[in-house]
Formats: sequence, C-alpha cells, structure tokens
Amino acid sequence: VLELTEFVTANDLANMMDVPVTDVISTCMSLGVMVAINQRLDAETINIVAEEYGFKTKFVSADVIEAIAEEEDDPNDLVPRPPIVTVMGHVDHGKTSLLDNIRNTNVIAGEAGGITQHIGAYNVQLNDGRKITFLDTPGHEAFTAMRARGAQVTDVAIIIIAADDDIMPQTVEAINHAKAAGVPIVFAINKIDKPEANPNKIKERLAEMNYLVEEWGGKYQSQDISAKKGIGVQELMEKVLLEADLLELKANPNRNAKGSVIESSLDKGRGYIATVLVQNGTLKQGDIVLAGTYYGRIKAMFNERNQRIEKAGPSEPALILGLNGAPQAGDIFYVMENEQEARAIASRREQLQREQSIRTQKLLSLDDIGRRI
Ligand code: GTP
Ligand code: MG
Repeated sequence: VLELTEFVTANDLANMMDVPVTDVISTCMSLGVMVAINQRLDAETINIVAEEYGFKTKFVSADVIEAIAEEEDDPNDLVPRPPIVTVMGHVDHGKTSLLDNIRNTNVIAGEAGGITQHIGAYNVQLNDGRKITFLDTPGHEAFTAMRARGAQVTDVAIIIIAADDDIMPQTVEAINHAKAAGVPIVFAINKIDKPEANPNKIKERLAEMNYLVEEWGGKYQSQDISAKKGIGVQELMEKVLLEADLLELKANPNRNAKGSVIESSLDKGRGYIATVLVQNGTLKQGDIVLAGTYYGRIKAMFNERNQRIEKAGPSEPALILGLNGAPQAGDIFYVMENEQEARAIASRREQLQREQSIRTQKLLSLDDIGRRI
C-alpha cells in the first residue's frame, strides 16, 4: 500500500514504487495523460498507474501531514456536547414549521414562497435546560447536495412526513442520506391536526419499506405531531434525545475549533460571511480560520438571532465575518496558529484546484480529439 498525499509527481510515484520514471510516464501516456517528470498527478491517474504495478493506494491529506496535524483529545478533556439534529423530508411536509414551533419563531413567514432554500442552523435550549442544535434543510428536489451535507454533519436525523400526504421522493431520498451517513432516524408524522391526516397509512408505507416503527414492534422511533398546533413536539424531542444519549456525544471545548462550513456568501455591507458549525473545540473572535481555499481572522461572530457572540463551543453554529472569500458549503474549517500558515495552505489549495481544472480541461479536449478521429 502506497501512502500518498495530493502532491505526488510522476517522479515521486516512480520512486515510491521503485520503477523507472520513464515507465510511469509511458503508462500515463497510454492512459492519454501527458506528464513531465516533475508534474503532479491527479488521484485517478495515480490509482490506475499504481494498480498497473500491483500497488494499492491510500490518500492522506497533505494538510493533515504538514500543518494541521490533529492532536488526539485526551479522554479526560472530553465533556458531553449537545446533539446536532437535522430535520429532513419532502417539500412542504413541515420541517421549518416544526423548528418554528420548537424555537417559538416564525421563519417560514419570511421565506419566499414558503420554500426553504438553504440550511438553517439553530441553537435551542429546551425547558429542562438541555441543548440541541438543529439544522433545517430544504425539501425541494433541487437541493439534494444540501440534504446530503446536512445528513453528514448530524448526529440524529428527524425525517418528517406529512400525514395528509404520502412517502414522497424526497422522503425516500432523505432516509437514504441518513442511512448513508449512518445516523439514527426518528420519524415525525406531521399535520395530524388535519381532518384528512392518516398517520397509520404512513406507518404502513414505512413498514413496506422495512422501516417498522416502535409502536408496531419495530426499531424505529416515531411520533405523531402537529407542528402547527405543537401537538407531540415535546414527545418527539424526548425521543430524539433518547437516541442522542445512546451516542454519548463528547467533545473537547478547550482546543482550537474545527468544524464544517454550512453556507457562505458575499454580503454587501459585511463582506464575506460564513455560517459554520463547530464540531470540536471552541471558536473565538480573533481566531485565524482556514476553510477550503480561504482564510482570515474572525472580526465578529453572531448567533442565529443576529446577536454578537464572542465564542461558539462544540455543536454550536455561528456566523463569522473576516474570511477573504466564500468557502464551499461542506468545507471543513480549522483554526490555525498563525496567519502565514493559513495563507500558505489556502494558496496551495487554490493552486492545486487550478491545476486540477486545467488538467480536466486538457483530458476533455484529448477525449474530444479521439472522438473526432
Ligand atoms: P420546505 O422547506 O420548502 O421543504 O418546506 P417545509 O418542510 O419547511 O414546510 P413548511 O414548514 O414550510 O410548511 C409547509 C406548509 O405546511 C405551510 O403552509 C405550513 O403552515 C403547513 N404546515 C406545517 N405543519 C403543519 C401542521 O402540523 N398542520 C397543518 N395544518 N399545516 C402545517
Ligand atoms: Mg422549510
């Protein structure tokens, strides 16, 4: 097995495999990839070439090796952290309404056409003092990537299904994302206040798909609710917390923060803004953050109610100001010790990205030529 970073040249690869570099280059040429000795190879080419010589490959991020060597947390430093709970389901089945009810807000009133178009991250403190971080996801079919991301950062998924409707395409998709991410599912069967609601029909349909709910002897927790009237919401929260408790979620608040970018954009007045979710450590104003190909010192932080905050601990979302660009949703962010290091990695990543896209273009055009011949 070859352990590789994203900075492997034809020459490096030849040395690792102990074969002449000319062999590597000619193998690349046979794949339609022209390379020079000191040119970096893309992962796909490396895989094929390595396989050709009987090697398996394992990619390790160069960042991790070079700069962001991640310290393991001492188990003694770990303390319980709030669960991250993502609400997913088909369009209009009541995700935002459920969160509005829990948070005592009226977000849907402000949504154009009532359709959620981005991931919202909310910090909620329940009556008993326990905290949950909720992610609201869009149900519209166009936002598959956002749902997948939501499922990836979450601890527990609430799949919400309107009882006056049916299991719909994005219901199935949401279930699949949760499964793929390996997170426990709690079903919320919504809109039971409606006369035409038929929660049992939904449970039957779930059973047909091999998701047998607990009250019918299965292993999936489910709760009938009305997000609008607040019926069953308390019980739903208890079931969610039960799943979360089993996971014994812990984090170390006393270290540099690491987490995920939920979304980012350019704001007219404030410059680049990013909503991030802290997954470990504590993020503080003044920290130097590296996210994707961008970096910057946090100038200000806000919670989801637009109030200034000084720091955000494990599982907490925050909107941060100060990055020099808009990282991609789903990018991992790290707090770095110094700005030079952050800048160096950011620009190296940018360079890699550029090289990668040039190479892809080249391959495409070679392909085109082949087709014409
Ligand atoms: P997307 O984010 O676009 O996928 O929709 P959503 O799942 O967030 O649905 P949303 O909360 O926006 O609700 C859609 C519609 O259903 C709104 O008109 C809500 O008022 C209505 N609704 C949601 N929950 C209930 C409920 O429990 N009972 C009734 N009667 N209506 C509800
Ligand atoms: Mg919504």
